[in-house]
Amino acid sequence: MEDCKHVLLGVTGSVAAIKVPELVKTLSELSSIKIQVKVVSTERGLHFFDAAKLPAACHTDAEEWEWKEKGDPVLHIELRKWADLLVIAPLDANTMAKMATGLCDNLLTCVVRAWDPVKPLLYCPAMNTLMWEHSITSKHTAALADLGYIQVHPAIKLLACGDHGIGAMATVDNIVQNVVEHLKHVQ
Ligand SMILES: Cc1cc2nc3c(=O)[nH]c(=O)nc-3n(C[C@H](O)[C@H](O)[C@H](O)COP(=O)(O)O)c2cc1C
Repeated sequence: MEDCKHVLLGVTGSVAAIKVPELVKTLSELSSIKIQVKVVSTERGLHFFDAAKLPAACHTDAEEWEWKEKGDPVLHIELRKWADLLVIAPLDANTMAKMATGLCDNLLTCVVRAWDPVKPLLYCPAMNTLMWEHSITSKHTAALADLGYIQVHPAIKLLACGDHGIGAMATVDNIVQNVVEHLKHVQ
């Protein structure tokens, strides 16, 4: 049977989350490698795309809290075990700060907190230039590097808010290339 890799796509509350449908479609339809995608979105992330129209399952905090009694699966642990690779695109400033300090108050950050350090975790920052250039950002990215997480660098362009500068999420093609490259090293 053809080898199929499991990619978990984490989504946070950046306007760049409008790219999520395109990202899921591109990852799912690659001819070079067979990938199954599942999405985990924060509540704010859900504002920017229609989860019901995605060609992949989209897991949410509401679903995580359907847990009722001992013996029921715990969703963040199930997803962490299922995934070969986690890519968070877009990663906003808020969830970046949580990841850098170990906070885990929703489904996505619980997956991150339980993450297997042997498996790749890629993150794609997306935020206004004023947020990106704040001195706290480099402290957080240094902490993420220390944890072994891989940054797909943000780009300089005209941002959704009308400002021009660094902070835009990397292109879908760039993100997909990085995912494919890192999946090559996954057993
Ligand atoms: C329209 C809109 C666009 C936003 N875009 C961004 C963004 O690109 N980057 C960012 O860091 N925060 C952005 N925010 C702020 C986040 O949504 C906010 O910090 C939120 O609490 C993040 O929650 P989450 O990390 O749980 O998804 C935006 C907010 C709004 C209302």
